[in-house]
Amino acid sequence: MNIQPIKQRFGIIGTSPLLDRAVEIAAQVGPTDLSALITGESGSGKEVIPKIIHANSARKHQSYFAVNCGAIPEGTIDSELFGHEKGAFTGAHDSRKGYFETADGGTLFLDEVGELPLTTQVRLLRVLETGEFIRVGSSKAQKTNVRVVAATNVNMLEAIAKHTFREDLYYRLNTVPITVPPLRERRKDIHLLFRKFAQDTAEKYRTQPLILTDEALALMEGYRWPGNVRQLRNIVEQMSVIEKEREVDAKTLRQYLPDQSTALVALGGSNEKEGNAINERELIFKFLFDMKSDLNALKAQVQALSGGQPLPTALPVGYREEYYPTASRSPQGTVSILPKHSDDEDVDHTEVEESLSLEEKEKEMIRKALTKHRNKRKNAAEELGISERTLYRKIKEYGIP
Ligand SMILES: Nc1ncnc2c1ncn2[C@@H]1O[C@H](COP(=O)(O)OP(=O)(O)OP(=O)(O)O)[C@@H](O)[C@H]1O
Ligand SMILES: [Mg+2]
Repeated sequence: MNIQPIKQRFGIIGTSPLLDRAVEIAAQVGPTDLSALITGESGSGKEVIPKIIHANSARKHQSYFAVNCGAIPEGTIDSELFGHEKGAFTGAHDSRKGYFETADGGTLFLDEVGELPLTTQVRLLRVLETGEFIRVGSSKAQKTNVRVVAATNVNMLEAIAKHTFREDLYYRLNTVPITVPPLRERRKDIHLLFRKFAQDTAEKYRTQPLILTDEALALMEGYRWPGNVRQLRNIVEQMSVIEKEREVDAKTLRQYLPDQSTALVALGGSNEKEGNAINERELIFKFLFDMKSDLNALKAQVQALSGGQPLPTALPVGYREEYYPTASRSPQGTVSILPKHSDDEDVDHTEVEESLSLEEKEKEMIRKALTKHRNKRKNAAEELGISERTLYRKIKEYGIP
């Protein structure tokens, strides 16, 4: 299927196969009357998908309504969706049609469907199953022919486990699941999107478009983008207005990326092997933490060889998960920095000794950074290339005064 015209028509930028797949499924499912559930992180670009479905359906000349379920107060949502009769509740001076009545023959996009109250979920399931609904305050069932497309950025399986979302409704909505990938899983699109937003902003403010140095681009591609495309667009707009220089370097860009530590998480959290853009200091830290993890693995081996006798000074485990959950690891979750030993080989204890001093080195680096910045943790953390939160934790952990 040629999805290029669709992408063009809806202004979708990017060449990622994951995003293309989502667009393709939307176009394919359009002509059917199946319900679809669009999932994806906030700001990833879900909103365009139901429009594609509608435009590719026989309903395309009928109405299309988008309702943000999360933005309507719990007390009025039933009335908004299904309408109400006069006198149905205090303040209901007139009867009113709901979306299921107005959108008859068309498509209804239920955004943030995970936010629907349970009682509304029951009504929604009924209309999906039977094509019938009842206005609030009425006892008469009415027929409607509405195609429902829903979207959510919450984990629905978790919501089901917590009993905040009905399982039966989930399966009914999820007849066709469409996943919009987070931006960090389509890093090649970042530059394309940047250029598009830079161009748009330049036209809007009548300036020259921003461009990125190679280093800044690498930083962008390695960043986690928790707010996805929306966050990227906002940052481009901010920089475009605030920065005088049209060429943005990594130092400038860094000021606009809220939490630098998330960039490291992204490095490991992504499935892609591209965009490994972190600066040298961050790499050193990564190296140190990885070595420490290896050290723990090694200690466990030594302990096993020494008949299970515990070794002194257990080093804390678990930082690496925070930094880069899956970064360049072997399947066992360790990084091959230290030579591997087979079970029957003797372990060279000098390596253990050497590695143990890593903890000291880390403490020393932290102390030095704190002294240099006169105990200003924010600046020290910046210098060390770690988040302030992590620095705080480490200070406590090591008991650094
Ligand atoms: N591939 C893309 N090309 C161009 N613009 C995009 C793309 N993806 C997203 N955008 C833009 O990014 C912004 C955020 O996208 P959208 O509103 O669809 O996010 P969302 O997934 O619905 O997020 P939320 O769950 O917070 O509602 C929009 O302005 C949208 O136009
Ligand atoms: Mg949205």
